[in-house]
Amino acid sequence: MLLPVVEYLPQTVLSRLEIYMTLESEWEPRIVGFLCKWCSYAGADLAGTSRKKYLPNIGIVKVPCSGRVDPLFIVKGLRMGFDGVLVSGCHPGDCHYQTGNYRARRRLAITKEFLEYLGVEPQRIQASWVSASEGAKFAEVVNEVTREVREIGANRLFADERNGTKAAKGS
Ligand code: FES
Repeated sequence: MLLPVVEYLPQTVLSRLEIYMTLESEWEPRIVGFLCKWCSYAGADLAGTSRKKYLPNIGIVKVPCSGRVDPLFIVKGLRMGFDGVLVSGCHPGDCHYQTGNYRARRRLAITKEFLEYLGVEPQRIQASWVSASEGAKFAEVVNEVTREVREIGANRLFADERNGTKAAKGS
């Protein structure tokens, strides 16, 4: 007689499976963060090395400067199913390329307006200026962005398209 597989699993594995099940069944916001390597990425690094706790909902992409963030990166992120986008760079006046963050700020304002026209809530796209010495601030920003995105719920833009792609891959 075959015994159910579950009897052979150690308790730790079982509890881990339960955690996975919880993760799968409960929606959690997923944020993509484009961080300038000179300031915000270093700030994120400092948050980690100084053990500042922040929510694990962010996936980080290192960019040379916030001015490098093409509006298409933001659209692509939302299209892939991320629920929010964070662009973070050096404080105004501190950009290593002089005006990259000013350009980023202007571009972001226009992109937000355009996406709002398409039905994307403005809270999904956020910007912040975090220096390399502001690990605690980085942690606060991530928590705040996650909280705001959680409030507005999952990103439904392009959901049909995403579901169609998944179905096509599965077939
Ligand atoms: Fe950091 Fe430009 S180098 S925003």
